[in-house]
Amino acid sequence: AKQPPVVFSWIPFMGNAVEFGINPIQFLQNCQKKYGDVFTFRMVGKKVTVLLGADGNQFVFNSKQNLSSAAEAYNDMTKYVFGREVVYDAPHSVFLEQKRFIKAGLNTECFRQHVPMIVDEVTDFFKDFKKPTGTFDAYHTFGSLIICTASRCLMGKEIRAGLDGNVAQLYYDLDQGFQPINFIFSNLPLPSYRKRDEACKKMAELYSSIIQRRKAENDNTNADLLQALMESTYKDGTPVPDKHIAGMMIAVLFGGQHTSATTTAWTLLELAARPDLIRALREEQIEKLGSLKTDLTFENLKELTLLENCVRETLRLHPPIFQMMRKVIAEKVTFEKTGHEIPKGNFLCAVPGVTQVDETYFKDPLKYNPMRWIDLDDPVHTMEAGDDADVDYGFGAVGISSKNPFLPFGAGRHRCIGETFGYLQIKTIIATMIRMFDIELEGKSVPKPDYTSMVVVPEKPANIKYTWRE
Ligand code: HEM
Repeated sequence: AKQPPVVFSWIPFMGNAVEFGINPIQFLQNCQKKYGDVFTFRMVGKKVTVLLGADGNQFVFNSKQNLSSAAEAYNDMTKYVFGREVVYDAPHSVFLEQKRFIKAGLNTECFRQHVPMIVDEVTDFFKDFKKPTGTFDAYHTFGSLIICTASRCLMGKEIRAGLDGNVAQLYYDLDQGFQPINFIFSNLPLPSYRKRDEACKKMAELYSSIIQRRKAENDNTNADLLQALMESTYKDGTPVPDKHIAGMMIAVLFGGQHTSATTTAWTLLELAARPDLIRALREEQIEKLGSLKTDLTFENLKELTLLENCVRETLRLHPPIFQMMRKVIAEKVTFEKTGHEIPKGNFLCAVPGVTQVDETYFKDPLKYNPMRWIDLDDPVHTMEAGDDADVDYGFGAVGISSKNPFLPFGAGRHRCIGETFGYLQIKTIIATMIRMFDIELEGKSVPKPDYTSMVVVPEKPANIKYTWRE
C-alpha cells in the first residue's frame, strides 16, 4: 500500500504553512505539477492530504461519516465561537437535525419579505454618501452593509436594533476568535481568546432574553430565522433549548457574513472593471422588470439571469471558502483512483478553488466571463451526477454532484444551506446599487486576492469610484 507523496519542506514543524498561507492556490498548483493530484503537506504539526480534481472533490465530500469527520477538523475552533452542543459540538445526527431547522427557516415565504428589507437597508446605508461622487473601500463597505441586511433578515429586529451599540462589539469579539490562528491554536491565554469566550456567553444571554420577551409578549409574526428556530422541535419531542438556538444563530452569522460580504465586494469590483456588463445588467432590468424603478421582488429577481450569472462567475473565480477539510477517523482511507492510502489523523482537503480555475474544466479560466454559464456545452452542465447526488439529507442538496468541479458551496452532507439566501441577498444588493450609482475601479485592475483571513478577500486598496445617478 502506498501513501501519498509528501511535499518537501526545509522547516520541520512549520512545514509548508508559510507558502500555503501566502498563496495557497499557487502553492497547490505547483505541488500538483510536481506530485500529481494527491499529496500530503505539513502545516504546524498537522498533516494535510490534498486531493485535487473533480474525483478528489468527490472523494472528500462523499466520504462516509465513519471514515472522516468535519467535526474533528473544525470543532476545536468553532465550539468556542458558536458555543457547546451545536453544529460540530453536537452528535452528527443532531447537527443534521439542526441544519434542517435552519434550512426550514430559510423558506420562500420569508425570502419574499426579505427582498424589500434588503432594498430598504441598502437605500438607508448609502444615504451617508452625501457627495455626488467619491470612493469607497469595497471590502469594508460590504462588511458593514451585510451585517445590517443579514441581521435584519436572519438574526431578528432586536439584534438589528442593537447593531449601533453593544451587539457590534460582541460580533467583533467573536470574529477575533474566528481567524486562521484559531484553527492552529484553538486556545491560548491571550485577551482575544478571553474576549471571544465572554462574547459567546453574552450572545447566548442576549438571545435568551429576546426569546423570553417574544414568548411573553406573544410576538410571533417575525419572518426571521430566530422565530423559525423558536418553533422547531427535535425528533424525540424535546423543544430546542435557548442556548442551542443562540448557538445556531451565531453559526449562521459566521456561515453567512464574511462569505456574502466578500462575494458582494468581488462582484462589484469585477463589474466596476466592466462598464459593458453594468450596461447589460441595467438593460436586463428594463427588459425583464419594465424599468429601473420597478420594485425588486423575490419573484422578479429570478428573471435576472445575467445578474445571477455574474454572481456565479464571482463564486467561480473568487470562492470565499476555496478549500474544505475533514479529518480521517478510521485506521485509513483509500483513494481508489490512485490507490493511495491516507492514515488516521491526517486531514483530507478538497480544493474547489483549484478545480474552478483549472483549464481542464473551464475555458480561459482566469477570465471573468459571466456568459460562460449560458453556454450549455460547459462541462459543469454536462457533468455526470455522482452517487451522492441522490442522497437526501433533508436540506436541499439533492441533485448536486460532489464530482462537479464547481463547488463554492461544498457538497454532500456538509453542503451549505445558505446558498439561496446568499444569492438573494447579493443579487438584491447589486441590482439596487447599479440603479443608484455609476461605478468604476479606482485602481488599474481588479485587486489581487488576500488569503490571510478566513475567507479570500480583495487585497487593499479595493476602492471603487461612485457617482450618484440622476
Ligand atoms: C456550509 C459556502 C452562505 C450556512 C458551507 C460550505 C461552504 C459554504 C463551502 C461547506 C463547508 C464544508 O464542507 O466544510 C458559503 C458561501 C456563501 C454561504 C460561498 C455565500 C456566498 C451561507 C449563509 C448561511 C450559511 C447565508 C446561513 C444562512 C451554512 C451552514 C453550513 C454551510 C449551516 C453547513 C456546515 C456543515 O454542514 O458542516 N457554506 N456559504 N452559508 N453554510 Fe454556507
